[in-house]
Amino acid sequence: MLVCVACHSELDVSEDRLDCRACGASYPVHPSYIAMRDEREAEREPQTWQAKAQEEREYAEIAERLARAGVERFATHLNFGYVPNGRPQRAVIEPEAHGLNRNSLRLLLEVVGDADLRGRDVVDIGCGRGGNSAALVRYFQPRLLVGLDLCEANIAFCSARNRLPQVSYLVGDAERLPFAEESFEVALNIESAHAYPHRERFYREVCRILRPGGVLLYTELMLAEEARHHLRMLEEAGLLIERDEDMTANVLLSCDENARQRTGQQGIAAVSGTLGVSTGTDSTSTPSAITDIGDFIALPGSRKYEEMRRGERVYRMMKLVKPD
Ligand SMILES: C[S@@+](CC[C@H](N)C(=O)[O-])C[C@H]1O[C@@H](n2cnc3c(N)ncnc32)[C@H](O)[C@@H]1O
Repeated sequence: MLVCVACHSELDVSEDRLDCRACGASYPVHPSYIAMRDEREAEREPQTWQAKAQEEREYAEIAERLARAGVERFATHLNFGYVPNGRPQRAVIEPEAHGLNRNSLRLLLEVVGDADLRGRDVVDIGCGRGGNSAALVRYFQPRLLVGLDLCEANIAFCSARNRLPQVSYLVGDAERLPFAEESFEVALNIESAHAYPHRERFYREVCRILRPGGVLLYTELMLAEEARHHLRMLEEAGLLIERDEDMTANVLLSCDENARQRTGQQGIAAVSGTLGVSTGTDSTSTPSAITDIGDFIALPGSRKYEEMRRGERVYRMMKLVKPD
């Protein structure tokens, strides 16, 4: 199923590398995961490479701070979460009343809705710290689950924590997926795509790796004026829009709760003082890869939160289908 990200050719496997005979790309095999990025992109597209490097630095820093604060094992989700507000829900499973990361779990169950994942091949693109992948296995029993993320620290964490035989993790780039055509029946993408410099590449890549009839379960915060543009790009990539809902009100409720409990993005709020950036209440002079943690996790009063409240940013939840 793994192919060269640059030319989609088959790879030669040795103990410590995967090599592409067709184009010369080479991918290192670490003891617990494989790094599937084509480093030649750094020369071909330096700006794109730099933007991704910055993204990776931010998440590596978060991973380090969570570990240092001793809360890393609880911090398995990196999303805003979802709180019901009385409107009809899609989730067919109710998470435990007092479980950890409950709002993030609700978000996942809401985007999955009644999609059939049992016995399917599923990829979680931008899997972060693996909480969604683990929950998918627990609640839906896919045949196979692959988690892919740009950030090596996240993948190292996922690989160390999650040792189920049907789950594997890879370092990779959503814009250049290391999978053969029609590898998966379901792709999940939660709050990751805003960071992709060329989102249309990601949409095309997802369509390529999905089997006919396969689905993309997708959530993202976007500027209200951009939403239509994204729908058009998804359609141009070959995906049909089966569901597209505005969940901003539910996400705002979750942000309010996160702020009250200091669990924003599942622990980042709790260690924000140690991130060396201001949350509005904390500030130190330690340099950080993240310029504004309050905005990063959409604390009430932050720019992102207020834009959501005013309807300038919308949280969209979608189900897209690759036609048969
Ligand atoms: C806000 S977190 C969401 C993580 C996870 N989906 C969740 O809900 O907990 C965004 C994740 O996207 C990853 N990411 C950013 N750019 C990426 C790219 N080009 N390819 C793959 N992952 C990427 C980041 O490393 C980060 O782990």
